[in-house]
Amino acid sequence: MSARKEALRILFEVFKNNKFSNKLLSNLKQTTAMSKEDIAFVFKLVYGTIQYKIYLEYVVNKIIDSNKTDLKIQILLWMNLYQLKFLKAKAYYVINEAVDIAKSINKNYSGLVNKVSKILEDENIWEVKIKNKQNVFPLENGFPFWLYKKIENDYSKEQAQQFILHSNIESKISLRLNTLKISLEDFEKKYFEKYKLEKSQLIEYFYLSNKNIINQEIFLEGYVTVQDQMSGYASYILAPKENSKVLDMCSAPGGKLTHLAQIMKNTGKIHAYELQENKIHLIKQNLSRLGVKNVILECKNALEIEEEKYDFILLDAPCSGYGVIRQKPEIKLKKYSEQENEELVLLQSKLLEKAYNCTNKGTEILYSTCTINKKENEEQINNFLLKHKDIEKIYEKVFFGNEYDNDGFYICKMKRI
Ligand SMILES: C[S@@+](CC[C@H](N)C(=O)[O-])C[C@H]1O[C@@H](n2cnc3c(N)ncnc32)[C@H](O)[C@@H]1O
Repeated sequence: MSARKEALRILFEVFKNNKFSNKLLSNLKQTTAMSKEDIAFVFKLVYGTIQYKIYLEYVVNKIIDSNKTDLKIQILLWMNLYQLKFLKAKAYYVINEAVDIAKSINKNYSGLVNKVSKILEDENIWEVKIKNKQNVFPLENGFPFWLYKKIENDYSKEQAQQFILHSNIESKISLRLNTLKISLEDFEKKYFEKYKLEKSQLIEYFYLSNKNIINQEIFLEGYVTVQDQMSGYASYILAPKENSKVLDMCSAPGGKLTHLAQIMKNTGKIHAYELQENKIHLIKQNLSRLGVKNVILECKNALEIEEEKYDFILLDAPCSGYGVIRQKPEIKLKKYSEQENEELVLLQSKLLEKAYNCTNKGTEILYSTCTINKKENEEQINNFLLKHKDIEKIYEKVFFGNEYDNDGFYICKMKRI
């Protein structure tokens, strides 16, 4: 199958069936016989089209009636415009292949070429003309108004605009060196040059790279794992001591869990819970590949676990995920209802209460989310602290993603006194 056809198939799954693009793309990588270059092109087309979908749809809707056009054809047009506008692709190739693909979907769409050609002829077609001038910036950058407004209200206009621009920048792969399997010296000697690694400015043992490492020795042997720097920062800030007793309430896929084990040098015990059964194998794979030996894993609702007392607790809560839009751009296309938002915030507060019930004097809790929504972060923690006067806040920070080429993230470390 051609790269464009493959990209269209994946985009259809995303837009029609609400599938996550990163999962579909990683499946493709593992199963396809396509060349590396073609796979990279599919990634670009899929991510780019989702990233700019709001803008591309706005432009395409100037010339088609979306109610009367097959969704697949619409997606094909969005994908074409993305290539023409953002990849500066040669119009001739894009249009020719689009026509072939359109014919294979529905022969009646032969007029497609004309429509795309018209877009090309008319420079004004790209212009955003809307009444509310404040919304031009988010629309041109494929960002939803409601989320732009929310970030502006929660923080500032500058922050919201910076966040939008950063969310469209292609991310490098962030890797954690696994010291349970290889020493820093041996690792750098063997792989630093080979993978053109760049040391993280934020946190030890983390590196950025543009090279693919999946299915390579460096990955298969468990010398590294793919983990965003911010995700690593959570376990780093919690800093569980060797031989301590640790609780990880929401574990899958196990990025922070395996990092906690690394920090503890495989000593002590980590009790790890995860609600979703279909994610347990991912955690198990990671534990085994990375040589982690101090984890007791159970598939269980963390709200129902026994209230044992722990020295350190990690609550990496389920959240709206606005901080990881760079990697999962479809997140910005789904607006949660008021009720869904309230349910999510309530679940987080119940999990925090559960965490509290597992503390002793001196226990340290780290609450984190991969979102920049104040209700799930600062406000959630303020409410928790109001209820529990014996909990002291030690560290709190929101990251927006532009600081260290990282994901957006919230971290709050607390201690029971
Ligand atoms: C942000 S992710 C955790 C990421 C993980 N800590 C890591 O670093 O790889 C949140 C996880 O919490 C799980 N989850 C949601 N509600 C839960 C609950 N009540 N009990 C346990 N796990 C839950 C979700 O299935 C999801 O895998």
